[in-house]
Amino acid sequence: MRLAIKGSGYTSASKTEIEFLNQVLIVVNDQGKIEKIINQHDDDYASLLQLAKSQNKLVELSENQYFLPGFIDTHIHAPQWPNAGLALDKPLNEWLNEYTFPLEAKYQDLSFSEKVYDNLTKNLVDFGTTTAVYFGTIYPESNLVLAKMCNKNRQRGLIGQVAMDDPDMNPEYYLDKSAADSIAKTKRFIDELKQQNQTNVIKQTPVITPRFLPSCSLEALRGLANLANQYDLPIQSHCSESNWENGYALEKYGKRDATVLDECGLMNNRSIMAHGTLLNDSDLNLFETNGVTVSHCPISNVYFGDGILPVKRILNHHVNLGLGTDISGGFSPSMYDNVKQSILSSQQLQSGVDTRIDAQKRGVPDSRITAKTAFYLATVGGAKAINLPTGELKPGYLADLQIVENQPKPFQPATSDDIFENLMYATTQNDIKAVYVEGLQAK
Ligand code: GUN
Ligand code: FE
Repeated sequence: MRLAIKGSGYTSASKTEIEFLNQVLIVVNDQGKIEKIINQHDDDYASLLQLAKSQNKLVELSENQYFLPGFIDTHIHAPQWPNAGLALDKPLNEWLNEYTFPLEAKYQDLSFSEKVYDNLTKNLVDFGTTTAVYFGTIYPESNLVLAKMCNKNRQRGLIGQVAMDDPDMNPEYYLDKSAADSIAKTKRFIDELKQQNQTNVIKQTPVITPRFLPSCSLEALRGLANLANQYDLPIQSHCSESNWENGYALEKYGKRDATVLDECGLMNNRSIMAHGTLLNDSDLNLFETNGVTVSHCPISNVYFGDGILPVKRILNHHVNLGLGTDISGGFSPSMYDNVKQSILSSQQLQSGVDTRIDAQKRGVPDSRITAKTAFYLATVGGAKAINLPTGELKPGYLADLQIVENQPKPFQPATSDDIFENLMYATTQNDIKAVYVEGLQAK
């Protein structure tokens, strides 16, 4: 036994429902997986409780504490962390050129990389993010530092060696020399991360990462897809994020963004495509058929998305959805903030925003999502995206969880549903009292 947790908490039960686990004992085995979840009436409850106590492995939640699965951030740019909460006054293309590429180019400096990545991974864990799907930079050595910091701060990272080889679309100072160079650096990163993992406690995963269609040649995209197949790796990119980006593929190739990525072999059930605010029904059919996940980054979308992602419609289309912070296109490292924004944005989609238009015509009916659906995206949707048994508290799943505190209001009784909803809306960094990854304490 690695750990036992005694108390109450929540796990997602479906896209619209949660399960309240009332006064249970979660037993975590030596491999960091949940062995069993038992309640006080089960036969082995007393003996396992005693065993955990005697081995000094028991964590007992206090009255106002609850456990939740750790969150999975399915889209975050690690090198953009110094700009989180800054520089959001430009449209995407200008923002990339003026603020983002100059910052990302600094990560050739490995001591700068270490300073930023140590701080970032610690902060994310502090916010309850136990797994993050990262974009790194074009520098393999710096991305290896990110992997090292994830391991140090006990976070599961899926880390992308960013590929961008089109000299017309990227600055000279931040550009892969050629498609062959993009592929060679990605291969080097994969091989060296495999080496590093021999000593990592929390295993880190390389991700095939063409930045987005406008930054890559078709040759690079095809070569990267081959690497993904050869090494059986996840893939990430951006897709139909903004009017400009969505229009780029149409203009250059006369095809949809998603179609070009698919023709290059990059759209499969290990692919995560960020944003997708402008995906149309034919794109969604492709996502559904190929099992591609959309990473919904609701804060970032306010700035760059040129529209609101119709979460409910996409879920009804049987396309998987995760949630992401998209630092620094999104200003907050908190998945709680993104849970809230996903709800707020869906409300605005439903009601509409331009009050000069008749109320009946202003919004999109049946668009509103609940906190339970947002929680599903942040946990189960994310886990499905990365094909790992995390994001749920069930036997056989990785013991990735957070312990959060919620002060009851003395003047009003609260049901377990009320407490859950309040946890989603009111939890601050300070309220997250402990975080475990594979049953190892990270906070
Ligand atoms: N598209 C290409 N690169 C980026 C990026 O860094 N952030 C966002 N939001 N979109 C992108
Ligand atoms: Fe992004």
